[in-house]
Amino acid sequence: MRSVMVTGGAGFIGANFVHYWIDRYPDDRLIVLDALTYAGNQANLEPVQKQANFRFVHGNILDRALISTLMREEGIDTIVHFAAESHVDRSIHEPDAFIQTNVIGTHNLLMAARELWLDSDKAPAAHRFHHVSTDEVYGSLRADDAAFTEATPYAPNSPYAASKASSDHLVRSYHHTFGLEVTTSNCSNNYGPYQFPEKLIPLMIVNALTGQPLPIYGDGKNIRDWLYVTDHCRGIDLVISKGRLGATYNIGGNNEWQNIDIVKQVCASLDSIFAGNEELSTRFPDAPAAKGRKSESLITFVKDRLGHDWRYAIDATLATSELGYAPRQSFETGIELTLNWMLENENWWRAVMDGSYRDWISKNY
Ligand code: NAD
Ligand code: TYD
Repeated sequence: MRSVMVTGGAGFIGANFVHYWIDRYPDDRLIVLDALTYAGNQANLEPVQKQANFRFVHGNILDRALISTLMREEGIDTIVHFAAESHVDRSIHEPDAFIQTNVIGTHNLLMAARELWLDSDKAPAAHRFHHVSTDEVYGSLRADDAAFTEATPYAPNSPYAASKASSDHLVRSYHHTFGLEVTTSNCSNNYGPYQFPEKLIPLMIVNALTGQPLPIYGDGKNIRDWLYVTDHCRGIDLVISKGRLGATYNIGGNNEWQNIDIVKQVCASLDSIFAGNEELSTRFPDAPAAKGRKSESLITFVKDRLGHDWRYAIDATLATSELGYAPRQSFETGIELTLNWMLENENWWRAVMDGSYRDWISKNY
């Protein structure tokens, strides 16, 4: 039985990871440490909230004393570190929180882990520090460049990417210098349940349902690699269970799309769901699909993002050959799962967008 601390477990990928892990390893104890920023919602953990092997701690990774106390109290032997400021647009407007949480916060966790696991008089305790990172640390590719491998030099372009690159380097250094048993995964763009509707796919779904413009930055030809979130969680599991200590692994979907094509695909899928279900037109009267029009009529080209990276692409050969990693969802099935989840969880996205989930949590827990 492991005692696993998941930082940022009330956010999008962290919450999916908690559900994945509790299902897969029901004997482990799981402690979520999360500051509940605008992106963190305890409602995301509702299905596991009352399980005996689960504990939620509302706290900040900038609070090192809290981390140390919690680690000792719970006998933490595994940290899976998701907590971060994660939205590129916010990092352009307000970078400070990215440096605080992503850099200083990660360093706090490393210091607390080193102190507990390596600095006692006893032999080092069995432990693992897994750091969740992004493909954005590698910078931007041109159309005909080869995909990022683990050997691609770091070239972060946004304050978000730079803060994640910095945290990756700190994690690496704690392995090299102190022998902390770390692994890192660098993943491409995720989508799926519980994603805050500021990121491309959930924002487009919400706006198409509520009849608001679908803003496409620049000409919409920027390319991202997309992965269904549960495939990412499975990839992290494989790295934790089979990865080499000190190594980094790229995790991706082998699934490159131009933004404009993704948005059109989401719109077309939504139109066909509406066509097969009359009740949706009553629930979402402002959606073009409710009036027999195409959702893509809402597409609006807007000013480009500053420093907008042109293309990301992941070469996940190492994870496939060493760990047996392969995504299970195709883009079609993943988008269908995501759309259905959003349609079934209208209360969730309305509540997280207006902050009212906090009232719901205080009434229920
Ligand atoms: P998210 O923004 O949805 O969630 C972040 C979570 O961290 C929230 O619950 C928030 O409350 C918490 N948090 C923020 N600051 C904190 C602090 N100081 N102390 C404690 N908790 C804090 O992010 P996400 O999309 O789930 O991403 C999770 C991780 O995965 C991040 O490290 C991100 O860099 C990485 N990642 C994300 C993607 C993606 O497509 N979303 C892709 C690759 C890697
Ligand atoms: P995003 O989901 O913010 O992820 P990231 O910037 O980390 O890749 O954006 C994905 C792509 O979609 C990116 O090229 C920016 C673009 N985008 C839009 O065109 N419009 C939007 O409203 C958003 C949020 C993103």
